[in-house]
Amino acid sequence: MTTISRRHVLLGGGALGATALAGCVDRAPSPGPSGGPTSYPTPSLTPRAGRTTVEAALRPRPVTLDLGGVSAPTWGYGDEWDSGLLRGTAGDLFRVDVSNELEASTSVHWHGVRVHHAADGVPGVTQEPIVPGATFRYEFVAPDPGTYFFHPHSGVQLDRGLHAPFIIDDPDEPGAYDDEWVVVLDDWTDGVGRDPDDIVADLKAEDGDVSGGMGPGMMGGMRNPGMVSGSIEYPHFLINGRVPAAPRTFEGRPGQRIRLRIINAATETVFRIALGGHRLTVTYTDGLPVRERGTDAIYLAMGERYDAVVTLGDGVFPLAARAEGKGGGALAFVRTASGEAPTANVRVPELDGDVLLGTRLAPAESSRLPDGDVDDTFDVRLNGQVDPYGWGINGLKYGNHEPLDVTEGRRVRMRMTNMTMMVHPMHVHGHSWALPGSGGLRKDTVLVAPMETIEADLITDNPGEWMLHCHNLYHAETGMMTTMRYV
Ligand code: C2O
Ligand code: CU
Repeated sequence: MTTISRRHVLLGGGALGATALAGCVDRAPSPGPSGGPTSYPTPSLTPRAGRTTVEAALRPRPVTLDLGGVSAPTWGYGDEWDSGLLRGTAGDLFRVDVSNELEASTSVHWHGVRVHHAADGVPGVTQEPIVPGATFRYEFVAPDPGTYFFHPHSGVQLDRGLHAPFIIDDPDEPGAYDDEWVVVLDDWTDGVGRDPDDIVADLKAEDGDVSGGMGPGMMGGMRNPGMVSGSIEYPHFLINGRVPAAPRTFEGRPGQRIRLRIINAATETVFRIALGGHRLTVTYTDGLPVRERGTDAIYLAMGERYDAVVTLGDGVFPLAARAEGKGGGALAFVRTASGEAPTANVRVPELDGDVLLGTRLAPAESSRLPDGDVDDTFDVRLNGQVDPYGWGINGLKYGNHEPLDVTEGRRVRMRMTNMTMMVHPMHVHGHSWALPGSGGLRKDTVLVAPMETIEADLITDNPGEWMLHCHNLYHAETGMMTTMRYV
């Protein structure tokens, strides 16, 4: 990883200067006990045989997004909802220069992609923050095909317009579909409602205790009982950057097989998604293939991805995403015939049909982790509550956390127990879990329901210090993060 801009040098070049400057603008969490990024050996940065180098540039900057008649001053990688979209093939070398045109420090994390440590984009853990005016070069070989996205790992910047799809094609694509549609779900407040940095500052100030398990007052203290997807109010929910009143439309032909690549890029909303009049055949989750399974609807937690194939009917059909436990939702249309589109409040009965939870899936043979005995087991207890707001892991908040120390070449089991009344989509960097309770299903983001325990195994084959956190970023930023550290 190299710092390539002259301006960065002027702004204070080396790590020391960068840190000092970052002090006044960076809202990222401060580095953990280790005090700053540790280095691990970087693998050779050459494309796999027959593959190529994909060069890209990202300029995070203040932008105004048109959400469909709603204008949102925010931060983004460009003026479109998918500005910055990155695409290549497994085995390609990605070389992405990120030039920070914001007034805050930033970073880019390639969510779900098993990159090497120094390219993972976590300030304080894998790199120094990218200060305003600086350019940082990310270089990594993407090992697996699949549906991913990227976003900053700096405070709650994801809750602005700073995210985009990252599609990695399979060089041996079976291609049992005619066309594809990338579908990005989002919850939106920035520039039209409360500012994400103000929300997180208020929540941090509550400084809720995380030392215990469930407290007796917890149920009564819930601000948002029910499905408890999140506790923050969002004025809008979006599909591909649009509010339901101004929906996107995918144009196709009856009988076509479409691959949907669905990404939940929301910061704190779980969605339930369905395509009216259709069954979905789920083919992948979090990038990796599953045993195909039909369903009416799918739950998507923050950070999860599902690919589904659908055979289009004849007409105009709503693609509806309900914001779980929040009221409202997001909308788009699929059109294969002329005729009027239904209105924004169209009923989609499939949403109340059979709804798939990711952990009910089974892995495809090709994505199975080899069997083996577990060498080390770690308890990962999720603690905290909404009122007073505070979240932690094993009774500790990030900053005081105790890293899970691992060694290379082991099979490590994380036993994640949700001691709270809210769902937590847990996400691990640099690895993909196999879930023994789901026949070895591979996931990098897994929804742990209230009072549920999920075991998740991985092989320690990628040395580094890797974040393990809740992908409700307000939970993460108020404490629900730790790391898995190779020692
Ligand atoms: Cu998408 Cu550590 O996150
Ligand atoms: Cu959480």
